[in-house]
Amino acid sequence: PGAALSDRRGRQVHDLRISVTDRCNFRCIYCMPREVFDKDYPFLPRRDLLSFEEIVRVARLFVARGVKKIRITGGEPLLRKNIERLVGMLAELDGVELTLTTNGVLLPKLARPLADAGLHRVTISLDSLDDATFRRMNDADFPVERVLEGIAAAQAAGLAPIKVNTVIKRGTNDHGIVELARHFRGSGHILRFIEFMDVGASNGWKMDEVLPSREVVERINQVFPLEPVDPNYEGEVAERWRYTDGAGEIGVISSVTQAFCSTCTRIRLSTEGKLYTCLFAQQGHDLRSLLRSGADDATLDAAIARMWAAREDRYSEIRTANTAALRKIEMSYIGG
Ligand code: GTP
Ligand code: 5AD
Ligand code: SF4
Ligand code: SF4
Repeated sequence: PGAALSDRRGRQVHDLRISVTDRCNFRCIYCMPREVFDKDYPFLPRRDLLSFEEIVRVARLFVARGVKKIRITGGEPLLRKNIERLVGMLAELDGVELTLTTNGVLLPKLARPLADAGLHRVTISLDSLDDATFRRMNDADFPVERVLEGIAAAQAAGLAPIKVNTVIKRGTNDHGIVELARHFRGSGHILRFIEFMDVGASNGWKMDEVLPSREVVERINQVFPLEPVDPNYEGEVAERWRYTDGAGEIGVISSVTQAFCSTCTRIRLSTEGKLYTCLFAQQGHDLRSLLRSGADDATLDAAIARMWAAREDRYSEIRTANTAALRKIEMSYIGG
């Protein structure tokens, strides 16, 4: 194990995000539009997935290089068979915060086993409290009640503090912003609004459907006064605001209007074992063939160190209408 790794912009790797499946039971319009992700979509065959043992081996090498936070994502990670077994294996890595991003509908069944296996907390996606709007956005006929049950199950299992992620598409669900704020005020859960991003190549992203976070804060502030809060740590993705009456805090994630690349310390491992140094990358670095060719830890570590040292990504800082149209990897493939 070597020293902490610095990339070409002086950023050190801190946060490893592991995608465990490219499948999902939702078809969110901003992530897996049904016209593209239909029954003929070439999802990864099982033999291409990294095994839990392979995932943990990679994770251990990253922890030795300074990773302090591991997030399990997908697709929908709770669709991966025996996911609680992977959680149990990752929970054995010392000094790491272990968390997971989910759409929540499988939590009533899995929250308890996941917590027992050592998961620390969860982030749950919820785009609207209005059932018709929510169904339109997940495009798979899931009622909002199912997600609310998932949030309750996570709370009962102690997977706290729970973060609730809302992607705002102007004209689709922005009318529900204040209602969401009202619902989660005082609950202890942290609601975060995410600007609609041009991830992947299939979600038909247009700048005029992005509602700048500044406007989200203004709309809530008019009803429930807010004041800014300092970040929890350098490079935190969400900008924090708290209710002046003490009812808790919200966050806004502004990848489009206020890029945070200069402090981006995240690396992503895809379901099939490719490393991506940016959410908007067009290409990954294949680690699976190295893993399966019998490489020892020193060889794997050297490959990881070389890859991070060469990193210079800052996509959100240089985004234009042209870059938005590039053939980037899909969010359902690489995870949030
Ligand atoms: P916590 O502070 O531990 O909750 O982690 P986090 O702030 O990284 O939160 P989370 O992983 O839930 O990220 C929330 C959302 O922010 C993701 O689903 C993405 O939409 C967006 N996001 C996270 N990381 C990046 C990133 O590196 N680049 C961009 N452009 N967006 C990101
Ligand atoms: N823009 C912003 N956030 C997105 N997510 C998925 N696609 C997009 C997008 N186009 C978010 C989801 C979830 C996480 C997995 O990624 O809301 O919280
Ligand atoms: Fe599935 Fe999450 Fe993408 Fe929605 S945002 S389709 S729940 S992976
Ligand atoms: Fe990091 Fe790339 Fe997102 Fe910038 S665009 S914050 S470099 S993942």
